Amino acid sequence: MKDTDLVFQSYGRCCNSDQFFVDFYDYFMSSSDAIKKRFVNTDMPAQRHLLRNGVMQLILTARGMPDRKLRALGESHNRNHFNINPEWYSLWLDALMKTVRLHDPEYTPKLEKAWRDVLTPGIDLIRGAY
Ligand code: HEM
Repeated sequence: MKDTDLVFQSYGRCCNSDQFFVDFYDYFMSSSDAIKKRFVNTDMPAQRHLLRNGVMQLILTARGMPDRKLRALGESHNRNHFNINPEWYSLWLDALMKTVRLHDPEYTPKLEKAWRDVLTPGIDLIRGAY
């Protein structure tokens, strides 16, 4: 099976539980105080919902969908808007991988590599818009 299919199916298993997104933000915020501070005034239930779609956009773009929505995320996260430090994206991906490991019963290191390979071009696009 192609990596993009493996990741698409893995994400389906992860999304079976809303706890996936709770755990993701717990891991992500505990990776840095500066990151935690960015979410003090955020409506987290809404943010978890937005992230569910955001990860789906990364996967769908890797599967060939136009990258228009990722370019919009690049714009909202750039220095003129949320001003997201480009170095934080590797913490973001590490937190996501920790969460996949916890939630996908079919997790393997090979699956983690597929996730990283599939998501990296889209993440680079968002980060590159800084
Ligand atoms: C908002 C996705 C990386 C911080 C959002 C939104 C989405 C999203 C879908 C809401 C839509 C929008 O406002 O444009 C993603 C994806 C990421 C990513 C897919 C990885 C590629 C990061 C990183 C940080 C971050 C590394 C670092 C702290 C924020 C903040 C908001 C936000 C602060 C606004 C929260 C608020 O409204 O209070 N993100 N994001 N994001 N993101 Fe990200």
